[in-house]
Amino acid sequence: MEVLILPQDVAAELVARHILTLIQHKPDAVLGLATGSTPLPVYRALERLIAEWEVDTSRVRGFALDEYVGLPEGHPQSYRAVITREVIEPLRLTPSQIRVPNGATETIEDAPAEYEAEIAASGGVDLQLLGLGGNGHIGFNEPGSSLGSSTRVKTLTAQTRHDNARFFPSEDEVPRHCITQGVSTILKARHLVLLAFGESKAQAVAAAVEGPISASNPASALQLHPHTTVLVDEAAARHLSNAEYYASSYRNKPDWQAL
Ligand code: F6R
Repeated sequence: MEVLILPQDVAAELVARHILTLIQHKPDAVLGLATGSTPLPVYRALERLIAEWEVDTSRVRGFALDEYVGLPEGHPQSYRAVITREVIEPLRLTPSQIRVPNGATETIEDAPAEYEAEIAASGGVDLQLLGLGGNGHIGFNEPGSSLGSSTRVKTLTAQTRHDNARFFPSEDEVPRHCITQGVSTILKARHLVLLAFGESKAQAVAAAVEGPISASNPASALQLHPHTTVLVDEAAARHLSNAEYYASSYRNKPDWQAL
């Protein structure tokens, strides 16, 4: 794992530049997209840089990590709607380029296997963006999720529903279930990029990067991946015991831009 401790805007710019360089080398790159607040600065930087660099994104494909189950179609907080607003429209992609798990209750039984098959058929995810839950979840793999899990329906924890209540009129309206890529689905991506900013993520960052690998902390499974980059700000890095080492290895990197 490589850990970079950088201010949030610098980290977002670095990740966006890295993604665009990937697309320049591989125009049909497959991106793994996260929702939530954390990746938004990356999406805004991408929006700006795509125009500045005149990058052709017409062949890019993407897969979202997760979706709520049971929200009516077009609900503004469905992850399909969020991805449309934050990624598809500003990056001038077409909706068919980006897949989001189908959270409709009528078809939910078949949706997980279909999503896995679509990801596999794409050739696999080249770069997966990840946010981090305060409880160590990645995607919506809550504590206790099998590290061998694939896409499936999960029950959200009370903490996650509480954390996400800020997007809904009341906590009661936050769905109780979701469909999420599994931990093992996420680990199949060729490059994992975990972003976490702010004091509220500090414990989860330390547990993910330096804690024991355990289903109780799904993000710790990232330690098993050969190419994981973790970008955190000073506040989120607070409880890392090796912070000095991470900073020095980044400083001494031959090509500072490569992630
Ligand atoms: C979102 C997702 C979640 C979030 C996590 C952090 O697609 O999969 O794991 O990344 O809950 O959310 P924020 O970024 O809002 O703090």
